[in-house]
Amino acid sequence: MIDSSNDFAFFTHDDLLKMDKLQRSNFVNCLSGYKSANLVGTTDGRIENLAVISSVVHIGANPPFLGMVLRPHTVPRHTLENIKQTGQYTINAIDASWYEKAHQTAARYPKEVSEFDAVALTPWYSQGLIAPYVCESKIKIGLQVAEITPIHCNNTQLVVGKIDEVYVDAHAIAEDGMLDLPVMDIACISGLDTYHRPQMLARLSYAKPDTPTKRLSANS
Ligand SMILES: Cc1cc2nc3c(=O)[nH]c(=O)nc-3n(C[C@H](O)[C@H](O)[C@H](O)COP(=O)(O)O)c2cc1C
Repeated sequence: MIDSSNDFAFFTHDDLLKMDKLQRSNFVNCLSGYKSANLVGTTDGRIENLAVISSVVHIGANPPFLGMVLRPHTVPRHTLENIKQTGQYTINAIDASWYEKAHQTAARYPKEVSEFDAVALTPWYSQGLIAPYVCESKIKIGLQVAEITPIHCNNTQLVVGKIDEVYVDAHAIAEDGMLDLPVMDIACISGLDTYHRPQMLARLSYAKPDTPTKRLSANS
């Protein structure tokens, strides 16, 4: 129960609907906490496209799948069009050294303009995929579309991809498979415009009902 003497602001669904558009967008986009910061690379076979996406989520590790939520098709969405056309895309982790360029890819460039050129990032191609990677990114993931599921309640699309190939900074891979994201200076996002450099608290032991959690390693 919420202690009414506390300084909690309370909002109902209707209160959120009544907010100013930008205020609601900022507020609701912060509620789910810090989000991953990625650039999605696609092509129609002729023109490359990049879009900053903060909704990439883990779907499963065995087999390896990632999902992302793409907004309604009320204006042309080059990323979704290209994914539907080619069945392929790349997910490229954004880091602290070039996050401003990554943010600029959200601008509505015409289809003939490659965001790689517009923001001065470098396309890179593997042997396996026709979708472009971001050369500067330290975690590059190539995917084949597995399914595109409409989310009917708000007209968005959940795009699920099978991980086909991964390129990662070799120095950042631990023996047990963990990636050292801080070493790569991978950024994260809150709201729609705020980029962060997260700080590790601790790595904890596997949680079991009869054993207290132990710190395996901590930041301080
Ligand atoms: C920080 C940030 C996060 C974003 N996350 C998403 C997202 O998860 N899904 C989405 O559809 N658009 C997202 N966008 C908007 C797209 O980046 C933007 O619509 C982009 O221009 C789409 O490009 P396209 O038309 O080339 O596909 C985000 C924008 C910003 C600035």
